[in-house]
Amino acid sequence: MTANKRIALSSDHAAIELRQAIAAHVEALGWEAVDIGPTSPESTHYPKHGEAAARLVASSDCALGIILCGTGQGIMMAANKVKGIRCGTCADTFSARMIRQHNNANMLSIGERVVGAGLAIDIVDAFLNAEFEGGRHATRVDMIVALES
Ligand code: RB5
Repeated sequence: MTANKRIALSSDHAAIELRQAIAAHVEALGWEAVDIGPTSPESTHYPKHGEAAARLVASSDCALGIILCGTGQGIMMAANKVKGIRCGTCADTFSARMIRQHNNANMLSIGERVVGAGLAIDIVDAFLNAEFEGGRHATRVDMIVALES
């Protein structure tokens, strides 16, 4: 596990409450939650919030990122446009574990309208407790990284 214990969190208006619950949860686990909002329930645009969290991860300011929108899909697509980001949307704990173990994901996306709060917390735990396995998976992740240049 990395020494950087900072997790970037952002969402759009659809997932503010769940994002704040996840921020509190990761803080209780000993991580520093870098929650960049928004806090207003006003309708907003998920790409800018996904990008903002992704930039914190890509710059190594934060080791990992957790982002949310209604489905988790749009904000994930935006985050994945930032160089260095590997973000997966998960609605189950198996996928959340595997995106770390096999894909070396550095960001997790969750859909507030897809999963309940209890499952969302379990998904976060699965993601945070897993570690990249390297080996043959490193070759494949390197191939993903090569697509960026
Ligand atoms: C907002 O209504 C909704 O489109 C957004 O939260 C997300 O689901 C997009 O992918």
